[in-house]
Amino acid sequence: MIASRFLRRTFLTLCLSVFAAAGFAQDKPAAQDYQPEVGQSGKDVVWVPTPQPLVDRMLELGKLTAKDYLIDLGSGDGRTVITAAKRGATALGIEYNPDMVALSQRAATKEGVTARAKFVKADLFETDFSQATVITMFLLPDINLKLRPKILDLKPGTRIVSNSFTMGEWEHDRSVQATEKEGCQSYCTAYLWIVPAKVDGAWKLPDGELTLKQSFQMITGTLKAGGKETAVKGRLNGDQISFKAGEAQYTGRVSGNAIKGAIKSGAGAGEWSAERAGKSAAASAPSKS
Ligand SMILES: C[S@@+](CC[C@H](N)C(=O)[O-])C[C@H]1O[C@@H](n2cnc3c(N)ncnc32)[C@H](O)[C@@H]1O
Repeated sequence: MIASRFLRRTFLTLCLSVFAAAGFAQDKPAAQDYQPEVGQSGKDVVWVPTPQPLVDRMLELGKLTAKDYLIDLGSGDGRTVITAAKRGATALGIEYNPDMVALSQRAATKEGVTARAKFVKADLFETDFSQATVITMFLLPDINLKLRPKILDLKPGTRIVSNSFTMGEWEHDRSVQATEKEGCQSYCTAYLWIVPAKVDGAWKLPDGELTLKQSFQMITGTLKAGGKETAVKGRLNGDQISFKAGEAQYTGRVSGNAIKGAIKSGAGAGEWSAERAGKSAAASAPSKS
């Protein structure tokens, strides 16, 4: 079972990468009647379109709203960008192949979404995508890994949605599948990651110290307070932090070097706040509610 999944994954990966190194004529003028071919070579990955039912699921998984700015890295024929724009979001496709860029622009015109759907001919490795609130991609495992440090530096809460390929040891937060019944035959699974705030290190509370060890969205550590040391375990969801320290449940919002939130425990409920060690801190102990 695991072996067959591995073989399938390897086959799908090979399908996307096999022609990538072959290179292609990037300076050809874009023809009006240009017809792309599934599997055609691309700079770092070939063009295979995400099946439309999965495009729809991916945008739902990323909780795309009209307030979002979506960037599709390697936008192909523009379907994800155009679908996002049709849902009211502003969207940008970054695509290396100029014929595909022109094709996407024509498709956006046809769909009446040129005001919100833009395309640029650019290399995704040399493009600043830090303004995105949602990033979509259908690349390759090694490309995802190469992009990972840049992705982890994005604003906490940015949603990353990838068709089929994962992010190494950074576990996805959620996943979704499009079904055969909906018309999806291959490349039908997508993964979501929410960029976590950076909390690794020491945090000062007025009556103690919180030391956190962060591995992507997962946190462990210790809380030292009132002469007691308690193990801490929890996770981040963008800028939202939650962890348990003994029986107490801490939740809060991370804002740069400060955290503010609520504590619930058997003793009642209260508020807490902390600042990175070395700065002044303020926190109140749980009080009965
Ligand atoms: C597998 S297709 C995915 C297309 C589209 N995102 C979708 O899901 O339907 C990958 C796309 O990335 C483009 N691409 C490959 N290397 C690139 C690079 N370095 N910069 C920008 N685009 C690239 C290819 O031309 C191709 O259109």
